[in-house]
Amino acid sequence: MHIDLSVKHVSKRFESFTAVDDVCFEVEKGKFFSILGPSGCGKTTLLRMIAGFEEPSEGNIFIGAQNMADIPPNRRPVNLIFQHLALFPMMNVAENIGFGLARRNESKAEIKKKVADILERVNLPGFDSKKIHQLSGGQKQRVAIARSLVLDPTVLLLDEPLGALDLKLREQMKIELKKLQEEVGTTFVYITHDQSEALVMSDHVAVMNEGRFEQIDRPQNLYSKPASPFVARFVGNNNRLPGTCVGYADGIAELKLTSGETIAAGTERQITPGAQAELFIRPESIIIEPAEELPELNRIQVMVSSILFDGANSQLLATSPALAEEFLISLPQNRQYEHICAGDRVEIGWDFRAGNCFTVP
Ligand SMILES: Nc1ncnc2c1ncn2[C@@H]1O[C@H](COP(=O)(O)OP(=O)(O)OP(=O)(O)O)[C@@H](O)[C@H]1O
Ligand SMILES: [Mg+2]
Repeated sequence: MHIDLSVKHVSKRFESFTAVDDVCFEVEKGKFFSILGPSGCGKTTLLRMIAGFEEPSEGNIFIGAQNMADIPPNRRPVNLIFQHLALFPMMNVAENIGFGLARRNESKAEIKKKVADILERVNLPGFDSKKIHQLSGGQKQRVAIARSLVLDPTVLLLDEPLGALDLKLREQMKIELKKLQEEVGTTFVYITHDQSEALVMSDHVAVMNEGRFEQIDRPQNLYSKPASPFVARFVGNNNRLPGTCVGYADGIAELKLTSGETIAAGTERQITPGAQAELFIRPESIIIEPAEELPELNRIQVMVSSILFDGANSQLLATSPALAEEFLISLPQNRQYEHICAGDRVEIGWDFRAGNCFTVP
């Protein structure tokens, strides 16, 4: 296993404020690694330290086997793509892409060949002489990525590169970007606050909150086995059900809700009776009007407060005295549920072992 990037106990303080707090991770060669977190959690600060524009207050960064301490940004084998692309408007596409190569004093013939190759790879063959203002948003994005990839960095750092694009284009670009990364095999470190981008594109995702990494995992695991309540809420939709633990055995806690009802709550952690706890349950784990004979289900009567029609992603909102917060429930678009309207009372249920229960600190 070859490690391209290794971040060891890195912190960054701005006076008394800690923007990045003891972050550790490694990225294997050729992997797509994302850092996902809300605005202000320290993502850009971390990336700027890797690129060398900011010095860590503590800790070390290695690219390949080399410690980056005291190595200036222009001598690091990385390239950083910003949210605002900073393409040179006076230069055409080929000049933009060849700029870094020319600064390295590569020959004109070599530059021409590399530019043509990379334009092919990013799906813009023959765009050499186009002006930047003649390009669409998605095309500019591809030129910016080509301009970095052509320099053949060990690690490509991308700071919310799709942030400025509209939703439809972002959806399309994230699939393209993933394919491109697989094709060229360059190690990517990608930061975003969009969980769908991170889940779709990445081999591994770190979820960041207030300067710390809460979990580093495969997308599937982040979704099905969140390590903290923050991850459970931040990655995908989730319903929260708070209560008091009144019993625990074999991966199932018994939770007494404020309404007095008791439910079973699946958990990978031992929960001590008496502790405050909260269960997170996914909208798609909830069954509407479950069959009588299904065993091991929590069952609750709810009132449908609204139906959010969105084709295959339709959901309904439900309230009940048993639920501290309104519940979001996936609404499959088949005949079985056609009769359900806002204002109806229905029973919902979910498996005892579905969801993730945490102790509230
Ligand atoms: N040079 C600086 N001096 C003081 N505080 C700073 C500096 N740079 C960043 N910060 C603070 O550090 C925190 C993290 O900032 P950062 O830009 O890394 O967040 P981010 O996760 O990239 O957010 P966003 O998603 O909005 O881009 C913020 O609270 C910010 O105000
Ligand atoms: Mg940022």
